[in-house]
Amino acid sequence: MPTAVLYDDSSEDLAREVARELGASSFKIQQKLFPDGEQYVRIPQSLSGLSALYITRLYPNQDSGLVRVMLVAEAARGAGAQSFSVAIPYMPYARQDRRFLDGEPVSIDVVLTALRSLGIEHLYVIDIHKPQVLEKYPGFINIRPFRLYADGLRGIEKPVVVSPDLGSLWRARELADALGAEYGYIEKHRDRVTGEVKFSNIEVNVKDRDVIIVDDIISTGGTIVGAARILKEGGARRIYVVATHCLMLGDAEARVMSVVDQLYCSNTVVSKYSRFDVAGLISEHAVSG
Ligand code: R5P
Repeated sequence: MPTAVLYDDSSEDLAREVARELGASSFKIQQKLFPDGEQYVRIPQSLSGLSALYITRLYPNQDSGLVRVMLVAEAARGAGAQSFSVAIPYMPYARQDRRFLDGEPVSIDVVLTALRSLGIEHLYVIDIHKPQVLEKYPGFINIRPFRLYADGLRGIEKPVVVSPDLGSLWRARELADALGAEYGYIEKHRDRVTGEVKFSNIEVNVKDRDVIIVDDIISTGGTIVGAARILKEGGARRIYVVATHCLMLGDAEARVMSVVDQLYCSNTVVSKYSRFDVAGLISEHAVSG
């Protein structure tokens, strides 16, 4: 079935590239705000006989972005789409994937359940914080970008790939496997109330080695700064960082760049460090479903 790629102001670059790779048409949805702040969207042409793929970045302004996805999903159904899928490169609310403290919601479940209830056939996300959260939702797919990253990091000689915590060790393993490198992790503890992070042992030898730290998100930068410092204390030579979603809040950029040699991010969130283009990953998965 032919595909139409829909996009908005946040995602024209990705949508045009995905449409080119799929040989699909692409067009922009119409958007405006009502005087009271509510959103309006319109799909300006019929989607009859088409499978629609809406590509949108939800960061920043995650909450209004989620409402926009809901409105576009309903509009696509009304415009006659045979199926409707969404690509949200950086999935918001993914870090609240369990009740860390009594009385909290499992936020990512709330969001995924809402998206499923809209009849979304496929949801494509890149490097979601914990891929297991998608298991309950057939057709919702986490795209792992580590082969793409490895292709851009091959110039680094004999690196050790390090995860800044045990939870992300699988990321280090996948990137290291693609590079043919060693890998390991640092023990990290986060205070669930203050958010403060502390690092203890490095579970791999980094002395006199170039290190690639791999993580999903740089938010305040606290994790990367703490990890880089302890790696330096452990004798690491150069520190490279590859992170998928670089939010770089507050003074994160200055703090991170004061302790690392190079930072590589993807364009799920656009910044001057966006070295990896995820459009090709989205189109590969959109073809195979
Ligand atoms: C945490 O488990 C994530 O994988 C990231 O390490 C974390 O979200 C980064 O946040 P920050 O930059 O604020 O330390």
